[in-house]
Amino acid sequence: MSIRILIGTADQELAGALRAQITELPDLEVVGVEKGSSGVIGIVTTEQSLDVVLVDEGIGPMPAHDLVRELALRRPHGAAVLLSRRMDEDVLTRALEAGARGVMSRSPSLEELETRVTAAADWSREMRRRLDTTSHDALQEERGRVIALAGAKGGTGTTTLAVQLALAAAAERTVCLVDMDLQTGDIPSYLDVVHRRSIADLVGVASEITGPMIADALFVHRDGPHVLLAPSEGERAEEVTALAARQILSALRSRFEMVIVDCGAFMTEGSVTAVELADRVILTVTPDLPALRAAKRLVQLWVRLEVRKDDELSVVLTQQSRRNEIQPDLAGKILSLPLAKSTVPSAFRALEKAINSNTLSRVEDDGFRRAIMQLGTEFGILPVNAGQEVRTSRRSRAEAR
Ligand SMILES: Nc1ncnc2c1ncn2[C@@H]1O[C@H](COP(=O)(O)OP(=O)(O)O)[C@@H](O)[C@H]1O
Ligand SMILES: [Mg+2]
Repeated sequence: MSIRILIGTADQELAGALRAQITELPDLEVVGVEKGSSGVIGIVTTEQSLDVVLVDEGIGPMPAHDLVRELALRRPHGAAVLLSRRMDEDVLTRALEAGARGVMSRSPSLEELETRVTAAADWSREMRRRLDTTSHDALQEERGRVIALAGAKGGTGTTTLAVQLALAAAAERTVCLVDMDLQTGDIPSYLDVVHRRSIADLVGVASEITGPMIADALFVHRDGPHVLLAPSEGERAEEVTALAARQILSALRSRFEMVIVDCGAFMTEGSVTAVELADRVILTVTPDLPALRAAKRLVQLWVRLEVRKDDELSVVLTQQSRRNEIQPDLAGKILSLPLAKSTVPSAFRALEKAINSNTLSRVEDDGFRRAIMQLGTEFGILPVNAGQEVRTSRRSRAEAR
């Protein structure tokens, strides 16, 4: 089977010259030429039989090294070769550090072209063969699940639900709660967290995060979950680029069984990336028309930006009470989005008390706690029998009376 190559360059002349050379080599074939980084990412994600990507150092808008890194994250067995004017140790080291399989001159001899491309393709095919023989389940197990929560608008209970799910899950699993509501994140006011480090401290090292760096950035809450805070200075939000968010979340997912991300209601590069990467997205809405309409608009925005289709997405109705005019059935009709089976009942007093006394893991409202357990089970965050405990506590209290 011939080696299938994608060329990534905005330089028409370079593309033409490479194409002409490749035609002379019987075992090599050009699948396409992409002028920009997003085009390259698009082809690499969809074209499964691609062997090698030649990335021109001058490609944009994403810098070539960042693009190589992104390709390695999206397709670990894909082989990228950097095309560079300069060929020295420094260039090679930087390219290899970004995850490239090698560096090739922008005007290679036919022999150089054949050698570099064949070596990269051999590696890629060997990696693919090995990954295929590793069972899919084993791979899945090594990766924690990412659950992203977003609010249709502010005040719909996103942070409350994220914190509650994280606390409940931490009893069973290793959990990291990430505050990706970068400008208005307020997890510290719900959980008693005193910590100076935030996600902004991981941005500079995002491409090479190690265990100790993560340990340094995270706060360990006494009830179990690890917490990665939003920067305390809101303006640092923009430091969390899509690439940094992707790298940070990937690093967390490889170390925690469950990564729960509070994306807030305001979309930034960081929060959009979390929504894109998540295994499941939970959108919170209150039972009122402005929130329901905002939820529809937000999902439409995700679809337009090609961040997320409405798959693996559930809307959770919060602050639900029988007195509300809009009941779950009607909300479901207005939204025409998948509604979670359980709703979060209104529990204003119990929540207020729990927040003030710093006991959010023990909200004194059985209906509220049961809803959290049911939602956790519904979304695969908690084991199937998790709701038992709330029922039992109720029964044992009744028995004690
Ligand atoms: N189920 C609920 N019942 C009553 N009040 C709630 C409920 N969920 C959240 N709240 C309250 O609503 C306010 C906003 O909640 P929060 O979780 O911070 O929303 P968001 O993160 O969407 O802005 C808080 O005062 C919180 O205590
Ligand atoms: Mg919030």
